[in-house]
Amino acid sequence: MVPSQFENELTVQTHTEAGTMNEFHAAYEAAVEDVRAELGDTHPLWIDGEAVETDETFTVRNPGDADQVVGEFAAGDETNVDAAVAAASTAFDEWKATSIEERTTIFRDAADRIADRKYEIAAMMAFENGKNRNEAMAEVDEAIDFLRYYSHELEKSDGYGGDVREPTPGQRCVSDLQPYGVFGIVAPFNFPFAILVGMTTGALITGNTAVVKPASTTPLVAHTFFDILQEAGLPDGVANLVTGGGRDVGQPMIEHENVAGFAFTGSRRVGLKIQETFDELDKRGPVIAELGGKNPVIVSDEADISKAVSGVKYGAFSFSGQKCSATSRVYVHEDVAEEFTEQLIEETKGLAVGQPETQETVVSPLIDEGAIERYDDICESAAADGTVECGGSHVERSDLPEGRYVEPTVVTGLSHDHALATDEHFLPFVTVHPVSDLDEAITKSNDSDYALCAGLFTEDDAEVDTWFDRIEAGMCYVNREQSATTGALVEAQPFGGWKYSGTTGKFAGGPWYLQQFMRQQTRTVVG
Ligand code: NAD
Ligand code: ALA
Repeated sequence: MVPSQFENELTVQTHTEAGTMNEFHAAYEAAVEDVRAELGDTHPLWIDGEAVETDETFTVRNPGDADQVVGEFAAGDETNVDAAVAAASTAFDEWKATSIEERTTIFRDAADRIADRKYEIAAMMAFENGKNRNEAMAEVDEAIDFLRYYSHELEKSDGYGGDVREPTPGQRCVSDLQPYGVFGIVAPFNFPFAILVGMTTGALITGNTAVVKPASTTPLVAHTFFDILQEAGLPDGVANLVTGGGRDVGQPMIEHENVAGFAFTGSRRVGLKIQETFDELDKRGPVIAELGGKNPVIVSDEADISKAVSGVKYGAFSFSGQKCSATSRVYVHEDVAEEFTEQLIEETKGLAVGQPETQETVVSPLIDEGAIERYDDICESAAADGTVECGGSHVERSDLPEGRYVEPTVVTGLSHDHALATDEHFLPFVTVHPVSDLDEAITKSNDSDYALCAGLFTEDDAEVDTWFDRIEAGMCYVNREQSATTGALVEAQPFGGWKYSGTTGKFAGGPWYLQQFMRQQTRTVVG
């Protein structure tokens, strides 16, 4: 095994770092109370290092408790986007001329500051997007890892600089990678910190400047990152934060003539729209888009069924299935289908649904009313066309505020090409389909526009080889009982998708990610 040069810098598991599990939980719970006491403030935009207030604001509420206001946020518009792009354009020349050391010092410092505040940031997510304790702590660790790993990659490659060559006497040539200019960065609600931090760092550390828009449901942790960047010494104008809606802020960012490139993570619909707009406007810069998934898991007749049940249960239902990487369809060998399905139903019924800050919670609230409506619709359709084996209803309990808590749902009896088994739903919902052999399971797994994550459970090495040869997915996991398809680690498991799950085929947290934010130039001087 080749040792990682980066692993000394990888975030150690927060649990271990905290000492005992009791200390870990006590630190998180204290942070939850501190954050709770601070909720409700009004937050401006950040443009050119200045707080900018707007006439209109929008309210963010706790998805698990509609009565609780997380904060009021400035509702940006096209005018604010123009100002932010102007600031980023002005800052570009000086920023691109900074040394590798100047940049990595800032981003490593930001990583250290996040590490110092990791419980607080994880606690913010409990209120802002309903992310449960362990998932939120892991997300903050991932953000820290992105900052340190990209710093390490920039240093290792010497900033993607080229050596001087003299191919013939008197001819001196250098070819290297250089930044584009201003990047638009648009992030999703489900990884509001790690993904926003990762994309922003990718753009900035390579010498670009940026205008950043978080999802309108999750601007609070984005604000925290901007506070941290300022404290770490990022010069004014290099990164600008414009909060607001997709149409009001995101669309003008895409269309702005001085936005040279785009990094986007979100739905296929919006990602493809960004690409189309770039094409229509004949923009030549990159659209680095990480999109949705419809992630299949195969359970072979050679599988350890307990491992498979555990992997599917956590893969499908952690954070209520609101992950691009969530397990959403299972192809199980007919000889073990009954045993697997019965165990999955049994264990799914035992999953803890609850408020995200509660220690045991695995299935936390859905993000908004729209998600609840989609859950109701797909459960109705599943009951009409198949069998809802467990779940399918809202959770109504005296200890939970009324709202967005729903049951994790297992469905059988649907054809493989039913819309419920082909479309991304982003909900705690999984379909199970018996198959006659591995060949049929792989063919059905690959019969999708999406190709993000895939899982296999088998104890047979030959099946593993066949599956790796044929499966179409960016992320392929075998026998992963802690989650069949979710939870990639920076550097060891670079994350991205094929087909309509991503536009570039170069993965976040991997060695070819940063180059996408740069373009090559070859300079030759004769004499
Ligand atoms: P979304 O596409 O609805 O929104 C993502 C972002 O785009 C938000 O900030 C939103 O405000 C913005 N937006 C919406 N309309 C826009 C427009 N017209 N112009 C510009 N910006 C616009 O996605 P979401 O609901 O926030 O997140 C869920 C989606 O993200 C799922 O499809 C999921 O699979 C995907 N996702 C992918 C990855 C990955 O790495 N592949 C990771 C996380 C989430
Ligand atoms: N990177 C996230 C995961 O692996 C989306 O689950």
